Amino acid sequence: MTLSLDLDAMTPALRYKLLTAVVLPRPVAWVTTVGADGVVNAAPFSFFNLFGQDPALVILGLEHHADGSPKNTTENIRRSGEFVVNIATPDLTASMVATAAAYPSAVSEPQALGLGVSPSAFVGPPRLADVPVAIECTLLDRLTYSPERDIVVGRAVGLAARDGLIDTGTWRVDWNCTYPVARLFADRYARLDEIAPRTIPSLSEPKEPRP
Ligand SMILES: Cc1cc2nc3c(=O)[nH]c(=O)nc-3n(C[C@H](O)[C@H](O)[C@H](O)COP(=O)(O)O)c2cc1C
Repeated sequence: MTLSLDLDAMTPALRYKLLTAVVLPRPVAWVTTVGADGVVNAAPFSFFNLFGQDPALVILGLEHHADGSPKNTTENIRRSGEFVVNIATPDLTASMVATAAAYPSAVSEPQALGLGVSPSAFVGPPRLADVPVAIECTLLDRLTYSPERDIVVGRAVGLAARDGLIDTGTWRVDWNCTYPVARLFADRYARLDEIAPRTIPSLSEPKEPRP
């Protein structure tokens, strides 16, 4: 390696540009929450991943607006302590991106965009009806390392899946080759494919959970 960059010497915007272009791909949490007035909110977040199974942890990085005010998702999670991570497949990318527009809190993105919702079993916010799987979460912790964002640590308490996705006999998940959409950098997305599927036994049959 010949290039060595001091990230601390860069602006946050440049750090974002570089780091999101090398940490690829990122999963997208299409998060549904409910506002104080009962309005169902939906927005995508790719500062997101799974961080453990006991407790089952999901983490979201929720940036605030330029004026320092929290996004609707952030306010709703702070107040209600609940959210749902909907997992979108590539066919839902346009709808998912459309929910990232800056709608006022009184406007429900699913309603405005004609997206159906279905009730959750373990938390108040509903899931989006068209996603294959959704993770129902409660707020465990809210970390504020800087005034510009909340890091939301959630506990996954429920899973809702489309018929046929999860075999409850073997607990295998069958995506039928249509895996969740992955975010590249900026406004670019990827479809996932497998490399040499099932030709490397240690990749296809892990004996222990591998982080
Ligand atoms: C694919 C995608 C990923 C995004 N990831 C994030 C993220 O990780 N953190 C964030 O604060 N905003 C992210 N955004 C922007 C939010 O979705 C956007 O600010 C949205 O309007 C927030 O909606 P809300 O005010 O209803 O919560 C992302 C947008 C897109 C399209």
